[in-house]
Amino acid sequence: MKNILIIGSTGQIGSELTMLLRKNYTGNVVAGYIPGAEPKGELKESGPSAIVDITNSQQIADAVTKYQVDTIYNLAALLSAVAENKPQLAWKIGLGGLFNTLEVAREKNCAVFTPSSIGSFGPGTPKDKTPQDTIQRPKTMYGVTKVSGELLSDYYFTRFGVDTRSVRFPGLISYVTPPGGGTTDYAVDIYYSAAKGEKFVCPIAAGTYMDMMYMPDALRAAIEIMEADPARLVHRNSFNIASMSFEPETIYQNIRKYVPGFEMEYQVDPLRQAIADSWPNSLDDTCAREEWDWKPEYDLEAMTKDMLAKLKQRFAH
Ligand SMILES: NC(=O)c1ccc[n+]([C@@H]2O[C@H](COP(=O)([O-])OP(=O)(O)OC[C@H]3O[C@@H](n4cnc5c(N)ncnc54)[C@H](O)[C@@H]3O)[C@@H](O)[C@H]2O)c1
Repeated sequence: MKNILIIGSTGQIGSELTMLLRKNYTGNVVAGYIPGAEPKGELKESGPSAIVDITNSQQIADAVTKYQVDTIYNLAALLSAVAENKPQLAWKIGLGGLFNTLEVAREKNCAVFTPSSIGSFGPGTPKDKTPQDTIQRPKTMYGVTKVSGELLSDYYFTRFGVDTRSVRFPGLISYVTPPGGGTTDYAVDIYYSAAKGEKFVCPIAAGTYMDMMYMPDALRAAIEIMEADPARLVHRNSFNIASMSFEPETIYQNIRKYVPGFEMEYQVDPLRQAIADSWPNSLDDTCAREEWDWKPEYDLEAMTKDMLAKLKQRFAH
């Protein structure tokens, strides 16, 4: 039995991951949130919740003690485009918050999952089939917090034996909760426009490849890495995972197969474009496949079918 605390449970990933963890585990699965981002509906009704601001160690420790937590999913962060506008706060939440979490985990013997990102790479990184272990010199505050977080998490494992594990998420696509201000958000927004019958204005230039993943695969990765046999793990913080890489024209043409009249024009956002240009085109996830049997289930085709069906259903009501 696991007792789990999710910090940042009401965001794009947390709102779905918390529900899936409650389905998979019988113990306490506690939805941590900050005032102003309270859990609602099924997320609120289906299990315990607690105010846990990651910048406040005491709140983390109190929730861990009260619910006898043994595993923490740390999802608190400012996403890439937001972090670039508020770099000081992004560091405070991303790194200060992670330090607080790891200290509580060290004292109270918890395992910790903290996602990294394709944003942990930079312009000096090999762009295609980016290897697991390679140059990580990002130019954004988001990337700086992610690389630093990988290092700090590995440090707590080797120095204190804290069971830290992580994956580098690509851009995540879902029909449930809208994304929180990342560089890959366009790949979610485009489906909403198509399902509503609206023209899509794309903020990322044609030809810009980035790794993406459908949310069900990402949630499974987050759970499977924490269930993996530790004896097989050569790496910990953090594993490349991948399922698809595309550029705006590819996803646009894919959607047009199902929505023939769908239109798109480009109005490139310089901030998001600069970030996208500094990120890899596609990651090599061989180590995750070898060390914990990672395997994605959705490709672009399967994702497009499911996204459009689910969104059309929603907008029909
Ligand atoms: N969504 C993606 O495409 C993606 C891709 C790569 C990595 N990630 C990583 O996954 C994690 C979760 O991302 P997400 O997309 O769910 O982000 P999100 O922005 O949707 O959610 C972040 C959550 O953190 C909470 N939060 C903000 N400040 C906090 C604080 N001080 N204390 C506690 N909680 C706080 C917010 O209320 C929100 O619930 C982040 O580490 C992010 O960098 C996400």
